[in-house]
Amino acid sequence: MLHHSELTFKDTDDYARLRDVLEKAGYTDKGVLEVIGVKDFPSMKGTDVQLLLRRTKDRSALNTLIRLFLIETECDTEAVKEAFHPLKPQALIEAGIVKVDGNFMTAAVKLMPYKNLYITFDLPCMLQSDSRTNYVMGIGSSTLTLANLTVRKPSRMTLDLGAGCGIHAFLAAGHSRSVIAADLNPRAVRFAEFNAKLNSLSNVQCLEGDLFGPVKGHKFDLVVSNPPFVISPEARYIYRDGGMEGDQITRKIVGRVPEFLNDGGYCQILCNWAELRGQDWKERLHKWFDGTGCDAWVLRSESLDAETYAQTWIRHTEKSEPGLFPEQFEKWMDYYESHGISSMGAGLITMRRSEGRASWFRADDAPERMDGPCGDAIVRGFGLRDFLETAADDSILLDSEFCVSPEARLERRSKPTPEGWLDESVRISLAKGLSYSGNIDHYIANMLINCDGRRKISELMNEMAQSLQAEPEKIKGSFCSIVRHLVQQGFLLPPGID
Ligand SMILES: C[S@@+](CC[C@H](N)C(=O)[O-])C[C@H]1O[C@@H](n2cnc3c(N)ncnc32)[C@H](O)[C@@H]1O
Repeated sequence: MLHHSELTFKDTDDYARLRDVLEKAGYTDKGVLEVIGVKDFPSMKGTDVQLLLRRTKDRSALNTLIRLFLIETECDTEAVKEAFHPLKPQALIEAGIVKVDGNFMTAAVKLMPYKNLYITFDLPCMLQSDSRTNYVMGIGSSTLTLANLTVRKPSRMTLDLGAGCGIHAFLAAGHSRSVIAADLNPRAVRFAEFNAKLNSLSNVQCLEGDLFGPVKGHKFDLVVSNPPFVISPEARYIYRDGGMEGDQITRKIVGRVPEFLNDGGYCQILCNWAELRGQDWKERLHKWFDGTGCDAWVLRSESLDAETYAQTWIRHTEKSEPGLFPEQFEKWMDYYESHGISSMGAGLITMRRSEGRASWFRADDAPERMDGPCGDAIVRGFGLRDFLETAADDSILLDSEFCVSPEARLERRSKPTPEGWLDESVRISLAKGLSYSGNIDHYIANMLINCDGRRKISELMNEMAQSLQAEPEKIKGSFCSIVRHLVQQGFLLPPGID
């Protein structure tokens, strides 16, 4: 339950005061990590609290903030007063940001720096309490993955569906005229509202309701969603299970979102899906997009067997009471058995509204590495797949000119032989974004190097045939399928795509 005063400041100037306090103290990702001596926030989990306390023992505003919100330890009331000056501790207590514990104060919420934002959300210990159903999660690995993959083109209106603390809405506020952060959980909406004010983001509106209910009649250029995708027999947490069977929440979003997308608008959903025994996962997902009027590209980052999946999520989110795990685990596994689920796919679904033409579906494995933001690579990936649709016929493909991507890198490993240096292996990779990589033979390497945007790929095929002393017709099939693969992964760019 929320108290009416929780997560609001009575004095609206206090939002700016709090932000000012945090900035002046140097409470930034970089500042904090330098003090505690870890490379990133996830690494904090493996660091002993005693060590963190020692590194923050000197009295300073920054050390007090780190102790309060990161280490989550009690702090001397005087130190808290000093750290937040000129903001009154009473205002923080009334807003539910800190609480009094005898002569000490502790954090009532988590408050973290993220890039140039400050984000509040629930303390992880809430997952062990009775009010855990409404738990509002913070910046998790799924959050960061979606943020990194988000298409960051200018958008007239963006929707963050299942916004939680509002992080995607705030990141989108920088490239959107207006943003709606919508969530079913009233507590999440309160956090998002508080965070929007704390970060002075006046173009973000926070709305409460089920899925698209709060945005009826709106159209968006971008919809992003990290829904409660965990596939389990439970409906314990709004943030995790969403209370629907299997992967139905994602399927529902896929089915309903087209109505809310402008032509050319993107919807990106980070999610898990069930992979059924005896059924190709791509076929199952393909059906989800029938009749949506959207092109759809599924990028699968991993597939986890049901046992590992259950174990990971139970350990990560269920109440950890001694002896409880076997019972929980069996319940989850019985659920998967009865639904014919053998594994769980995880990845990103991106849809693009394509009015007035036939739409396409593609499903690929994601690269092992992603280097930096990938939104541009997603947009480029759509352009490349559009091209591949039009060049389904080999003759059209062979009549095209390609450029090698400026991000392509080629490494040759050669060895000396009596006939001169011989390539042992040739490795290609992309240096930015969706960093696909793989081995190619030196014939393909030579073809790639010669793709300068001026020569038709059929010419390069003929040259390759000559060096192989083969008839071009003989190599045509495998040559075209390799070229398609190189286009699909972003190594070769057809005209009009940069
Ligand atoms: C996995 S959390 C994601 C939070 C945040 N967007 C992020 O990426 O870190 C899923 C969010 O969806 C919300 N949610 C669950 N069911 C919903 C529904 N039917 N309609 C709207 N939001 C829902 C939850 O309250 C939760 O905040």
